[in-house]
Amino acid sequence: MDHSIALVTGATSGVGYAAAGLLAREGWREIVVTGRSLGRAQETAAQLAAETERQVFTPLELGLDKPSSVRSALAELVKRGRPVDFLLLNAGVLGGKVRVLTAAGVEAAQAPLIGHHQLTVGLLRANLVSPNARIVIAGSEAARGDVPMFSYTDVGAFAATHHRGDRSAAVEALVRGGPNVKYEPNRAFADAKVFVAWWAAALARRLPAGMAVYAVSPGSAPETKASRNASPVIKWVMMPLVKLIPGMSQTPETAARRHLQASEFGTDVSGQFFASAPKKVTGPIEAMRHPHFHDRANQEAAWQAVVSVSGVDLPYPESLSAVS
Ligand SMILES: NC(=O)c1ccc[n+]([C@@H]2O[C@H](COP(=O)([O-])OP(=O)(O)OC[C@H]3O[C@@H](n4cnc5c(N)ncnc54)[C@H](OP(=O)(O)O)[C@@H]3O)[C@@H](O)[C@H]2O)c1
Repeated sequence: MDHSIALVTGATSGVGYAAAGLLAREGWREIVVTGRSLGRAQETAAQLAAETERQVFTPLELGLDKPSSVRSALAELVKRGRPVDFLLLNAGVLGGKVRVLTAAGVEAAQAPLIGHHQLTVGLLRANLVSPNARIVIAGSEAARGDVPMFSYTDVGAFAATHHRGDRSAAVEALVRGGPNVKYEPNRAFADAKVFVAWWAAALARRLPAGMAVYAVSPGSAPETKASRNASPVIKWVMMPLVKLIPGMSQTPETAARRHLQASEFGTDVSGQFFASAPKKVTGPIEAMRHPHFHDRANQEAAWQAVVSVSGVDLPYPESLSAVS
């Protein structure tokens, strides 16, 4: 991959901020850093430039829970017309005690995936993704179901009970926080990251040859702002404990390195979910083998649900050239 232009979403803090800094130090020519407001993105770009002593950061306003903001960001990128070599879809959020729905009717923890889908498809359709580009989307070990206090919804069972077995409708209901979905922040987060992994697998089938996408968990990095909305138990008991237990935490830089490592992976493993070894939340990453990640019906259900919620689809590669 040509180390030319990278775009990092959610670069204003934590892993995204660290990743943008690492990319600059590794010689990337331009790093587009996004924030919910232009002011925050500009501040971030200035701070990164001062820290790394490299003038390679371009601020971009991008609120992933606002379709109009994603459209404006896309329009700006189209105006600039420079294809992205590394798209790091890092932004994500752990919701608070009370369920929040965006103005577009999406549960807050799910909103980044919808916005990332709109952004990615928009860039692909505009021919603004380099032929050998790598796309990394931030996942989480929570999607495996073996992290204490985090379990995900059994989509098959939920679909059978409420949607006559239609998994796509079930995923959409979970994304929208529908009437049969009992909100619990950790479960909503785990569900969001399950769908991230399934979506990446479905996107991989739709990318032109040469490009690749991976879901990658940064691992446990408690020094970021990820727990800002978390319950007091998580924030003031679990997180401080996690920092003390060996093997339970790593720095945002170490976490960000996982994304950079994945940006060098081949197309042969496109669509896979990389995370710490099973039952671990730090250390080297490996491809996850849990059956639910490899179930094509799950992957396509997530894709169709995201398409339905976002109103944006991407045809298979053979028809992509006809679209652009
Ligand atoms: N830290 C961990 O232990 C851990 C573990 C597993 C996975 N992850 C994942 O790693 C990624 C980075 O998290 P982090 O730990 O670095 O947390 P963080 O410090 O809270 O950073 C998250 C970034 O995403 C942005 N963001 C969130 N929702 C957004 C939205 N709807 N639109 C635009 N920007 C949005 C935030 O912007 P604002 O500040 O404006 O909200 C912030 O820049 C997330 O996807 C997270 O789920 C983290």
